[in-house]
Amino acid sequence: MILESIVHAIAFDTNGGPEVLRFVTMPEPVPGPGEVLIRVAYAGVNYAEAEHRRGVFGPAAALDVPGLEASGQVAAVGEGVQGFNIGESVTAYLPGFGGYAEYAVTPATFVLPLPAYVDLRTGGGFACVAPTAYGVVAAAARVQPGDTVLIHAAAGGVGTIAAQVARALGATTVLGTVGSADKIEYASQFGYDQVLLRDGFDKAVLELTDDRGVDVVLDPVGGDTRAQSLELLAPFGRLVAFGDAGGYADVTVGLRELWKLNRSAGGYNIGDVARRAPHLWRSHAQAVLGLVADGTIRLDITDTLPLADAVVAHQRLDAGTNRGKTVLAAPWS
Ligand SMILES: NC(=O)c1ccc[n+]([C@@H]2O[C@H](COP(=O)([O-])OP(=O)(O)OC[C@H]3O[C@@H](n4cnc5c(N)ncnc54)[C@H](OP(=O)(O)O)[C@@H]3O)[C@@H](O)[C@H]2O)c1
Repeated sequence: MILESIVHAIAFDTNGGPEVLRFVTMPEPVPGPGEVLIRVAYAGVNYAEAEHRRGVFGPAAALDVPGLEASGQVAAVGEGVQGFNIGESVTAYLPGFGGYAEYAVTPATFVLPLPAYVDLRTGGGFACVAPTAYGVVAAAARVQPGDTVLIHAAAGGVGTIAAQVARALGATTVLGTVGSADKIEYASQFGYDQVLLRDGFDKAVLELTDDRGVDVVLDPVGGDTRAQSLELLAPFGRLVAFGDAGGYADVTVGLRELWKLNRSAGGYNIGDVARRAPHLWRSHAQAVLGLVADGTIRLDITDTLPLADAVVAHQRLDAGTNRGKTVLAAPWS
């Protein structure tokens, strides 16, 4: 008789507030063909995981383990997987969630070896936010040298990286907005020329740009922020929506307002990229990992909490008080 290995995880079986997260035991995942099993060292905490927990992506499964990104050591590989050594340190995107656990499994496409100068803690908070920031800035918004870029939720996981990617691609002016004054100083460290309070940002941006507006807006907030941002687009400007953190109703836009001035509005969704074009995740991840490894981009891990404190991390996400990147440290790491 083969005994199933039992592993630890944080999971929920009903949607709700942070308190639905609890410590559980479950069978060790087994890597299928093309998959890699990772012994998790650090799991990144993402806003999308709060949405997952609340049920935004659908009702809870029997045991739903959150976690879109993690670092750790390769523990096993499935059939057909080549190029990994057991025990090698890696960073991984987990499109099916599962990072808040002792072991996580994911397709090999979404696993990258950690370069020598990137530690496991940083790697734990990389594989969802950093490729998203790169994909939004470089691919969806096509930021060009000389652009003026406006980034909402500037102090967050994606926001702090997106500003640095925009700079690296040659943006001349990078502006950010935050929801509260206490985040302005923090966000200002990441390549922003100016970080503004979101309340009243539209007037402030017009003043700062001599009424020209901006070439690019990156918006994960939605609602009035999105509507006002569309008004700020200069001719040839691009707005990229990539989240609905505010939970507002959708915004509609008249195409005439866009095409008459060669403006456009689009979107980016890493989940859809992973499903339909996994090679794009990989090329964005490799590009931004190179920028982290050579010091061009600083991925700021502000909080390292024990995995058992996932509830605390989620309370901060719900309150919008987190900044930079939070990771959960596995007790066995
Ligand atoms: N489309 C994609 O592929 C993709 C991938 C990753 C992340 N995202 C999105 O990108 C955004 C940033 O993700 P992240 O993980 O790096 O999170 P984050 O920016 O660290 O945290 C979310 C931020 O959203 C802002 N916010 C606005 N309204 C809020 C509300 N009602 N409740 C809570 N927060 C609110 C807060 O910043 P302020 O205090 O500045 O308002 C908060 O800090 C999220 O919207 C996320 O869903 C999208």
